[in-house]
Amino acid sequence: MPDAIHAEGLVKTFGEVRALDGVDLDVPEGTVLGLLGPNGAGKTTAVRVLTTLLQPDGGRAVVAGLDVVRHPNEVRRSIGLSGQFAAVDEYLTGRENLRMVGQLYQLSARDAKRRADELLERFHLADAADRTAKTYSGGMRRRLDLAAALVVSPPVMFMDEPTTGLDPRNRQGLWEVIEELVSGGTTLLLTTQYLEEADRLAHDIAVVDHGRVIARGTSDQLKEQTGGERVEVVAHLREDIGTVRGILARHSLPARSGEGDGLAAVAVEEHTRKLTVPVAGGAKLLAEVIRELDGQGVEIDDIGLRRPTLDDVFISLTGHAAEAEDAGEPGPETDPEDPGAPSTGSTPDGPGRRRKRNGKRKEAAR
Ligand SMILES: Nc1ncnc2c1ncn2[C@@H]1O[C@H](COP(=O)(O)OP(=O)(O)O)[C@@H](O)[C@H]1O
Ligand SMILES: [Mg+2]
Repeated sequence: MPDAIHAEGLVKTFGEVRALDGVDLDVPEGTVLGLLGPNGAGKTTAVRVLTTLLQPDGGRAVVAGLDVVRHPNEVRRSIGLSGQFAAVDEYLTGRENLRMVGQLYQLSARDAKRRADELLERFHLADAADRTAKTYSGGMRRRLDLAAALVVSPPVMFMDEPTTGLDPRNRQGLWEVIEELVSGGTTLLLTTQYLEEADRLAHDIAVVDHGRVIARGTSDQLKEQTGGERVEVVAHLREDIGTVRGILARHSLPARSGEGDGLAAVAVEEHTRKLTVPVAGGAKLLAEVIRELDGQGVEIDDIGLRRPTLDDVFISLTGHAAEAEDAGEPGPETDPEDPGAPSTGSTPDGPGRRRKRNGKRKEAAR
């Protein structure tokens, strides 16, 4: 398969900062590459270079068969970028905005209307469709902007953190649109801070940090490296630890795949009464464990299913948590080693969680 996107040794510096420090990327036609990394990793810079908005200082990139430096105009005609209509017209309604984009792309009036209606529905903007965009909340504008980028389906799409700041319902809606788009043959490069999102959408993931690709693989490969999902239980009483250990051992990944009794797979932290075990089986398995604990009369303080997050991937790759770039966020150093915070349960990592709670991550990744 030919590559729809190919980059070799891309370098971009801003003063002292090497935002891109030799990035190589390949995205075969019709596939999705997830560029996964924390704030400041260089994701946006990579997207801007690949979409001709920024000139690289070194290296080269070919998009849709065209060199981005030598043929920027032709490249632009073959790509879509979410965010490009950030100048959504405030004085037009949501519906008018989308129809206008359709007409700019030379859809017939009828097709432009049909596509606008579809997208308004999909992005939960149907009720607000006939209000001017200036009355929209920030989240609604974001959705309208994304919808505008999807009015026509260009052969190569770039989406820079498309779901950051969206609520779960709208994230879900966007994921569905993206899947539809890709099943129609579009090649997509998507940046994200959420492993869960890359997991769901990307065929292949490139993990970036400090302007470099530090790992590449499918999400299964990255998770395998990270240790997969785990059940964490905090027993209320120290004397119940043995019972909990027995139950968890039987459900452990090694026991289930016939590799012994699984006891060795259960990590026990006596002083916090916390037990952790690698599992496969998700929420269903969690429910079984809860029933058994209950059946044996074990009282627990906390139980949760932990799925690997960007932080877990980072720790396993680099030995340190993804650093928060934002000055406002406490860095890993200021986090207490054991925050004693409640477990995250089976909540997937969402926009609200980001890269907090590094203490827990470190512990889990031992
Ligand atoms: N226009 C710019 N001027 C100066 N520094 C920049 C500029 N754009 C990005 N940077 C810096 O380059 C690095 C990578 O930024 P960026 O590509 O935006 O990362 P990400 O999108 O992964 O959060 C950061 O250290 C950022 O501060
Ligand atoms: Mg960015």
